[in-house]
Amino acid sequence: MLKSQPPEELKKRIAKGLVMVARPLRRLLDRAWFWAKYGFLPPPEGSDLVGYEALIDYMKENRILELPGDVVEVGAFCGGGTYKFSKSLSRMASGKRVHVIDCFEIEFDKTECTAGTQMAQLYSRHLQGRSQKDVFSRVTVGLQNVEVIEADSKCAKISANAICFAFIDGNHAPEYVRNDFYLVWDKLAPGGVVAFHDYGYDLPQVTDVLDKLCTEHQEEISSRLVNEEKHILFIQKRCPRDR
Ligand SMILES: C[S@@+](CC[C@H](N)C(=O)[O-])C[C@H]1O[C@@H](n2cnc3c(N)ncnc32)[C@H](O)[C@@H]1O
Repeated sequence: MLKSQPPEELKKRIAKGLVMVARPLRRLLDRAWFWAKYGFLPPPEGSDLVGYEALIDYMKENRILELPGDVVEVGAFCGGGTYKFSKSLSRMASGKRVHVIDCFEIEFDKTECTAGTQMAQLYSRHLQGRSQKDVFSRVTVGLQNVEVIEADSKCAKISANAICFAFIDGNHAPEYVRNDFYLVWDKLAPGGVVAFHDYGYDLPQVTDVLDKLCTEHQEEISSRLVNEEKHILFIQKRCPRDR
C-alpha cells in the first residue's frame, strides 16, 4: 500500500515555518560572526549602505591607524558606517576621533545615476518617511569619539590638524567630489588614504572627476586601488621619502 502523502497545504505550512525559523537564526549567526571578527555588534540592519567592513579591513591590512591623524567621513546617511568607524577606533586607536560631515537634507543631492534615478529619490525610498537625523541619532547614540559637523561639505571645517583616513560618499555632483577631495587632501598625513565611493559604477561623472584629480595630483599619490565589488577607489598620499 502507498504511504499517504501530506496534503499540499500542510507542506506549504511546514516550508513557511522553516523559513520563519531560518531567517532569525541566520541573522543571529551573522551578528555572532561579525562580533567574533570585529569585536563589537553590528549596527541596525540597513543603516550602512556601502558595507564599511571593506574600509575597516583596508585600514587594518594597511596599518593606516598607525599614522598620525583622525578619520573623516563625508556622507553618513543613517550612521551605520559612522558607528563601525567609531567602534573600530575605540578598539584599535583609542586616541583618534571620527569627524562626520553630513547636511542631513536628503533632497539636496539631485544627481542622477545612469538608470535615471536621483540620489534624493533613493534616500527618500530608503527612509520610508523617517527623518534622516532621527535615524542617525538613534544609530550613533552614546558614541564618545564622534564629532558631527552638520553642514554642506562646501562650508564644513574639520577641526583635526591631521587626517589618516577619509571616506567620501556625500554629494555626487562633480564640483562636490572635487570640493570633498580638497577638504581632506592637504590635511592627509603622508601615507594616509582618501577613499571615494561610487568609482567605476553608475555615476560616471564621479569616476571622471576622480580620474582627473588623480592625474592632476599624480606626483603626490603613491598608489591607487579599486575595490570593484564595492565601487571604492582608495588613493594613498605619497610619503616625502618615497619621492
Ligand atoms: C550616499 S549617502 C551616504 C551613505 C553612507 N556612506 C553609507 O554607506 O551608509 C550620502 C549622504 O550625503 C549627504 N549629502 C548630500 N549632499 C551633501 C552635501 N553637500 N554636504 C554634506 N552632505 C551631503 C546626504 O544627505 C546623505 O546623507
